[in-house]
Amino acid sequence: MEGVTIVEHPLIQAKLTRLRDRRTDRLQFRQILEELTALMVYEITRDFPTRPVEVETPLERTTGVELARPVVLVPILRAGIVMTDGVLNLIPTARVGHIGLYRDPNTLKPVTYYLKLPDIVTEALVIVVDPMLATGGSAAEAVRLVKESGAGDVRFLCLVAAPEGVRAFRRVHPDVPIYTAALDRELNDHGYILPGLGDAGDRLFGT
Ligand code: PRP
Ligand code: URA
Repeated sequence: MEGVTIVEHPLIQAKLTRLRDRRTDRLQFRQILEELTALMVYEITRDFPTRPVEVETPLERTTGVELARPVVLVPILRAGIVMTDGVLNLIPTARVGHIGLYRDPNTLKPVTYYLKLPDIVTEALVIVVDPMLATGGSAAEAVRLVKESGAGDVRFLCLVAAPEGVRAFRRVHPDVPIYTAALDRELNDHGYILPGLGDAGDRLFGT
């Protein structure tokens, strides 16, 4: 699918399999989700621009690189919050915005309850994160809010996506690439991804 990168690294796929497993308990689920996110960060940052920077080694002066643009990470609450540390472990200077959204269980439409973004969102590389892209409604709304705040360079990082959701998202945001560990088969009648991993928020927080 155009605009979708499925990251098929063996470590990522092995960890994803453990997330899918119903026997994986809350503690393990949280830990694996964070680890998996950190691994996905390599792929999403692959083409981030760098600029040269001088550094003094114990032996001599040399030229290295640093990221040329600030990074803003935007987790979608609740489940996205657990992905935050996975990204910050690798990009510790990233600023973090938050978007609170939940999916109405009857209409499956996103309902926004919180929004706080750093000012620098206009000049930054923005990564919106949520483990699940099901109907695509939450992701599309989160990205709309980020763009409304001035962001011009946005990427969406999830772990499991449904084809229906990817199509819906790309119709609204054709400029925003999606990075996922898996593109699953389909949605069920309640908007859950099959085979999926169940309700990410509930599995993370024990609700
Ligand atoms: C889940 C998930 C996404 C959304 C995906 O959150 O974390 O945000 O559903 O579904 P969609 O693509 O159909 O919009 P949920 O709405 O269950 O809220 P929660 O994180 O508070 O549990
Ligand atoms: N949200 C989830 O947490 N899981 C799904 O399968 C769909 C939406």
